[in-house]
Amino acid sequence: MIPKLYTDKANPQTLKLLIAARLAGKELEIIFTEDEVISFLNKKQLPALELEPTEFLFSTNAAARLLLSGDVSDGPVEAKIDTWLEWESTKLQIVTNNLLALHSGIAKEKAVDTSDLNLLLKYINKKLDSKDETLVKEKLTVADVVVWSTLYPILSNDKIVKGWEMEYVNLFDWFKNMSFRKEFRDGLNQLMEVGGSEPKIQPNGTSAKKESHKDSKKDAKSSGKNNSSNGLPSKPLPTSDPDQEQTADVAVTDEEIAVAISSWQNLNPVMKCKRSHPILPKKDARNILITSALPYVNNVPHLGNIVGSTLSADVFSRYCRLRGYNSLYICGTDEYGTATETKAIELGLTPKQICDKFNKIHREIYDWFKISFDYFGRTTTPQQTKISQDIFWKLYKNGFISENTVDQLKCEKCDKFLADRFVEGTCPLCSFDDARGDQCDKCGKLINAVELLQPRCKVCSNTPVIKSSRHLFLDLPTLEPNLQKHLNEVYPDGIWTNNAKVITNSWLRDGLKPRCISRDLKWGTPVPLEGFTDKVFYVWFDAPIGYISITANYTDKWESWWQNSEQVKMYNFLGKDNVPFHSVIFPCTLLGTKENYTIVDSVVATEYLNYEDGKFSKSRGVGVFGDSAKDTGIPADIFRFYLLYVRPESQDTAFAWDDFQLKNNSELLNNIGNFINRGLTFVSNSFDQTIQPMKLEKADEIVIGQINKQLHIYINNMEKAKMRDSIRNLLSISRLGNQYMQSNKPWVLVKGTPEEKSRAGCVVSLSANFAALLAVLLQPFMPTTSETIQKQLNMADESFVILDNIAAYLKPGHKIGKPSPLFQKLETALIQELKKKFMPENVADAKKKTPPPASSSPAPVSFIPTGSSAAEIEKLTQMVTEQGLKVRELKANKAEKSVVDAEVVILLDLKRRLATLQGIDPSTLVGGGKKKGKKK
Ligand code: MF3
Ligand code: ZN
Repeated sequence: MIPKLYTDKANPQTLKLLIAARLAGKELEIIFTEDEVISFLNKKQLPALELEPTEFLFSTNAAARLLLSGDVSDGPVEAKIDTWLEWESTKLQIVTNNLLALHSGIAKEKAVDTSDLNLLLKYINKKLDSKDETLVKEKLTVADVVVWSTLYPILSNDKIVKGWEMEYVNLFDWFKNMSFRKEFRDGLNQLMEVGGSEPKIQPNGTSAKKESHKDSKKDAKSSGKNNSSNGLPSKPLPTSDPDQEQTADVAVTDEEIAVAISSWQNLNPVMKCKRSHPILPKKDARNILITSALPYVNNVPHLGNIVGSTLSADVFSRYCRLRGYNSLYICGTDEYGTATETKAIELGLTPKQICDKFNKIHREIYDWFKISFDYFGRTTTPQQTKISQDIFWKLYKNGFISENTVDQLKCEKCDKFLADRFVEGTCPLCSFDDARGDQCDKCGKLINAVELLQPRCKVCSNTPVIKSSRHLFLDLPTLEPNLQKHLNEVYPDGIWTNNAKVITNSWLRDGLKPRCISRDLKWGTPVPLEGFTDKVFYVWFDAPIGYISITANYTDKWESWWQNSEQVKMYNFLGKDNVPFHSVIFPCTLLGTKENYTIVDSVVATEYLNYEDGKFSKSRGVGVFGDSAKDTGIPADIFRFYLLYVRPESQDTAFAWDDFQLKNNSELLNNIGNFINRGLTFVSNSFDQTIQPMKLEKADEIVIGQINKQLHIYINNMEKAKMRDSIRNLLSISRLGNQYMQSNKPWVLVKGTPEEKSRAGCVVSLSANFAALLAVLLQPFMPTTSETIQKQLNMADESFVILDNIAAYLKPGHKIGKPSPLFQKLETALIQELKKKFMPENVADAKKKTPPPASSSPAPVSFIPTGSSAAEIEKLTQMVTEQGLKVRELKANKAEKSVVDAEVVILLDLKRRLATLQGIDPSTLVGGGKKKGKKK
């Protein structure tokens, strides 16, 4: 059938669909209606796209995307589109709706505050920096349609837009370019025509099966009060109720409702899984061993470190506990290595004293953030020595250790062998000029420090000299097939984030090389082999063994976790720079023992979190570090919520104060806080704090069905450690609750007849139950808030679990506690103050003067070694050829898209560097990943 588009008058959300259909050359039947399309939706949801009879799509972004589905073929573009669509629906729409509501409503006289909007416009403007005409650079996509449509009512209103064209030049260029397109203008005209005509008849057939169950009074605000003229409107499109715009798109089937209701009515008390230490694997349980990367003891972790490892693992652990899985969460400080030695000298302490001091700092930070380790230990314990040496001996006896003479970098000025981390230089693989001695942050490959081109001592910048020394090597090449076999087994069922897989696979594809596992240092685990006893193990060899030794300090039955690969599943949480150590080297170490060690099943790696538009930097005082978060006076739960909301799951994200404020005030205060407080206050004030009998009507059953569906998605996401998505499901539940209250109006009913009053009792008691569900689902994210809600609800402890389906946690007759507000508004003054505090003025000023190069601009040329550029060019040419071959081969073998993409990125980068070296403008490269924007 020709898809039908149901819409009300001049709805700006409809615009997206009209334009998308035109761009796709698809026909749409437009049906103008003022009524609900499906009567069971208890809130009007328009527009709606009917694809097949009774099959509706209510999310306009999903619908627009579907109409334009031809353009989402390739991975990276698709990911960027995702980001834009999400940004549009979670940020832009909210702000523009609020603004339009204000503008056309009460605040007519007064100037409307546009600061929220300005931030967003600034963001788009910056994204369009490269003067490309479309948002995802490569081509015009649904992202342009969606963002343009939402901006249209604002940017076409010159009462709002005063002098902005000068400020957001790129944005207005883009906006106008789009406006000149036929599809956009036609879509707009069509909408205005539709909006101006008389309401057509209600569509028939679509809702015949279902009984209408609620009064269909229209919300005065939403039914198109600004009738527009024909043609390009000079006035903004009508506004709509922001609450309604954010309607969680949950369509439920009768079966889904039935499942939810039967579970709801199952009033059996649920058993709480009691945890008592030490927790050990159980025979028929889901035994889950959770680790977060052991933080370096000598650094204070910043918010990015925290969300990447400890906080992520904490959310997952808490979730596992709430599901009754038998899980153990282990972490501790990573204490050995030169960095600690150096820090000790710096502070005039012994390494041991440094470790004691900083281990305590770490503990305090994680306590404050409510990270619920089952055990938090450290790597400098006798158990560590014992277990590391034992593993080493097994590797040795199995023939996986070899000896070799190694050239090592020594800084003569500092009179020290330089640990990898204390050397910097140019990456021999990708020519990145700021590679670390152990790894290149650009191409992600591990390097041996002596291979660095142009090495320099990190402490004094002197060029180090090469000295040789005998060392021990782990024979990774021989172990590689075993590793591959293990990975093949665990990939399908484990959680491997995309970056974890890409990095691991690229390691394997390059072929593993023997790795040096000893160092000329004192602060480390002693090497027990004769002839090497003056050396210690390389910190990355024994640090992951820390997971084991820390467990051994927790329980002497540690082998039941660590030598039990059949019964235990291990999940490692970490930042992406830690991937190869967890997915390649440590597994090979354990495989080489030929014992039944528990080897990683899941590697959950995050991308990086930036701070505002740059990086965290302790030395420059930029960004929030764990120890200063508490000084802001903002509760840890709020930080947790925001960090998880922006958790860098598939790309780098940023901690931004304005956004932090926005999320607190909109999602926490106005959404969750408002819903829970409203319901509980009702139960408290009008029903003597007592849960009332709940005789379910159709509307109730529907909302229970909708919430149950969100619960399913929440669980599904959590099982895959997609916590960022789970948060959104949770917010949808609260939104559904708010809508439910709003449309049932208990505040009216409670003043009516006895029947109406008892109906009100039912509505608020259901709401209190939804609040109870939210309290449980929030617990992994916001444990303190969750506890407060539980107290306010006087919830029984044993019912505090996440079940497969929704249940009535609070039964009729149950007395709740005293409700009080859960969240506080974050005021702009405070946010401004914090922004200043964590971005010292000198840094901010320096930033303004020298803006960082746009990501698409050619790489800085500072790596070009003067005098040897002919050799460099030759070398790079060869690298380009090799990389090109690699890419072609991968493509020919139909390798996974993400793998190919990763290699293409490297290839393009090499080409760009080569071009720069040859004096060619890199942006003229064919296939350089971006089209040059044609400016009109
Ligand atoms: N200390 C390392 C870091 O912060 C992580 C070590 S993880 C371990 O990057 F498994 F090796 F301990
Ligand atoms: Zn030096």
